[in-house]
Amino acid sequence: MKLHSQPGLTFDDVLLIPKHSSIRSRSEVDTSTELVPGIRLHIPIISSNMDTVTEADMAIAMAQVGGIGIIHRFMTIEKQAQAVQKVKRSESFIVESPITISPVTSLKEAKAIMVETEIGGLVVTDAEGCLLGLLTSRDILLAPDKQLPAEAVMTPRSDLVVATADETLPEARLTLHKYRIEKLPLVDKENRVQGLITAQDIIKLQEHPHATKDERGRLRVGVAIGVHASDYKRAETCLEAGADVLVVDVAHGHAKHTIEMVRGLKDKFPTVPVVAGNVATAAGVRDLAEAGADAVKVGVGSGSICITRIVTGFGVPQLTAVSECAEAGHELGVPIISDGGIRKSGDVSKAIGAGASTVMLGSMLAGTDESPGAAVIRDGQQKKIIRGMASLTANVDRKAIDKSEEEIDWGEVVPEGVEAVVPYRGPVGDMLHQIVGGLRSGMSYAGARTIPEFWKNAEFLRITSAGKQESGVHDVDVL
Ligand code: XMP
Repeated sequence: MKLHSQPGLTFDDVLLIPKHSSIRSRSEVDTSTELVPGIRLHIPIISSNMDTVTEADMAIAMAQVGGIGIIHRFMTIEKQAQAVQKVKRSESFIVESPITISPVTSLKEAKAIMVETEIGGLVVTDAEGCLLGLLTSRDILLAPDKQLPAEAVMTPRSDLVVATADETLPEARLTLHKYRIEKLPLVDKENRVQGLITAQDIIKLQEHPHATKDERGRLRVGVAIGVHASDYKRAETCLEAGADVLVVDVAHGHAKHTIEMVRGLKDKFPTVPVVAGNVATAAGVRDLAEAGADAVKVGVGSGSICITRIVTGFGVPQLTAVSECAEAGHELGVPIISDGGIRKSGDVSKAIGAGASTVMLGSMLAGTDESPGAAVIRDGQQKKIIRGMASLTANVDRKAIDKSEEEIDWGEVVPEGVEAVVPYRGPVGDMLHQIVGGLRSGMSYAGARTIPEFWKNAEFLRITSAGKQESGVHDVDVL
């Protein structure tokens, strides 16, 4: 047996010590960071790959403000790839594979496609993919008979303004304005559809100047995968759909099968960034980095809905885990993601100050509009559900989705997560604004203009329970 003499610390055990600062305004602070080498985020925040936190809507909202979302893996491969496609299509200057229908598709069917894909206009093509017309929801709105074929009400090719695939953003803008149109199909010399530019997408580009975008101007998104043979297929399908990052996510990431999975993915997809975890030690970071991980996720038993430490007795308090892992990560050039246990913006400052490049949030984002599921009323208050991905109900649902891969013997299931509710919190953008505001302020207390400067300047002080009490609101009745 080995017993460490130093206690493990978590966020509430410490405070950051204020330092001399020449920063006059929070706006002078740059919160940009690396998700993995080569992918920068304007804000160091990632939404957790939990099924009550991140599907397409959350991933879109996260990337729009400069963070990123990781689509969870507790759904079929097809559904996960569809979620990726939804993010990739949501905001791009050119829609490269616009949704097409045939001229004989009924208006009823076309409407159903529009509702399902949340797209207001479909490109009508022949069997060779040549442009025949454009059908918008407005064309369908007052059509007398919804059984009519698309060709009966669409704007035909002869009346359409079109451009070629090399259309630039300023040119497209001018064309859309000049003809007072909202959609510009792109065609090649043979009239085959090459893409679509929409006015709405161009407007969205201006609304989100700090959005996390790929080289083609599409929002970036990550996908979680497991460590089974079928996860190669999951990875491949999601990459084909446009995923930017693979996140190998298992409860105990410092394990042979995780290391082999990372190595296998890097062999099969050498140019794709792979994040791996979760670990809680420098040795875990080193082993995953050596296998090829581009970033490592840190946090064992720290999550709000997690009972791993109670059930197994294992874990490392999060601040100690992050600082030890970050020491190894910085030496190896592998960014560290602090995952789990963050309850307030001050914890984000502490996690980043301790050396993390980014933080992953679950419960703080689960109550927002963009998380999956609707709000419920509990004790007269609006709440949203969050559940651990190792909770009993999550295990039941996973079995239903993936019968072949993970045959679960129910007598053997030992949950390591719970189901819970969190307060409803409105749009995630507002929430992130508060969190990032807190971080900016925190960095200014450290005299740090950038996250690497914050790593250098951060100095922590252990506090007592009296210090902790003093740190909260005390001796007043809060209104
Ligand atoms: P927070 O505290 O942000 O934590 O809600 C989110 C993180 O918790 C992890 N997670 C789990 N950990 N059992 C666990 O031990 C679970 O069932 C479970 N579900 C999620 C995960 O790392 C997530 O990002």
